[in-house]
Amino acid sequence: MDKRTFIKLSGMAGAGLVAAPLVSGLIGCGNAPVDPGTPAAENAATTGFTLPELGYAHDALEPAIDRQTMKIHHERHHAGYVRKLNAALEGHAMGGMSLEALLAGLGPDDTGLRNNGGGHFNHALFWKVLTPSSEPSQPSGVLADRITASFGNQETLLTALSQAAGSRFGSGWAWLVQDESQPNRLFVCSTANQDNPLMKGVVDTHLQGRPLLGIDVWEHAYYLNYQNRRTDYVAAVLDRINWSEVAALMA
Ligand SMILES: [Fe+2]
Repeated sequence: MDKRTFIKLSGMAGAGLVAAPLVSGLIGCGNAPVDPGTPAAENAATTGFTLPELGYAHDALEPAIDRQTMKIHHERHHAGYVRKLNAALEGHAMGGMSLEALLAGLGPDDTGLRNNGGGHFNHALFWKVLTPSSEPSQPSGVLADRITASFGNQETLLTALSQAAGSRFGSGWAWLVQDESQPNRLFVCSTANQDNPLMKGVVDTHLQGRPLLGIDVWEHAYYLNYQNRRTDYVAAVLDRINWSEVAALMA
């Protein structure tokens, strides 16, 4: 991002969001170059957002998430959100904004940007905070301290995430969120469809903040392997969290 763009975006969205972008560097913003030899390029517009690579093989998360689910989820569902987001941005006043600024600035009636911008951000974050390692990762350092301060202990946090994911009616996401006005305060919440805590014009105030971890509870995320057993899927995902990546997303 050049200086002029930074200043422009700073005036359009909360300075904290823009000064400390979440996953924009990973998911491609603006006129991000596209390598024509990558699968992502097949789903990208000539300019705009691009499908990020997973960073690991489709079967790397087995048995928690099976290869076919990962492949379809990434190459079809996520790619579809990227493609439709770019289409919705053609000629739109929000074109050229960072994804975080776009999500923070849109309103409830901006349906195309809301569903597809949210879909792009949420999935990019989801891939990033999962780990192919079978060695359980543990929160440490400042993140561990904030978990203790906010929830009492890690087990309570995991229970809260599981309950938020399990109680979401229909499709949506469960989140671990950092309070932007009180950085030491973390909280758990859930949003419907592809909404997320960045959407200040869409979600209630008590849901707003900086998402650090998202769990996809759309059926497309688990149905092939788990059918209706969402709780089992969520438990398996919680064993595959890359807490170092979660910590790196904190402001
Ligand atoms: Fe999904």
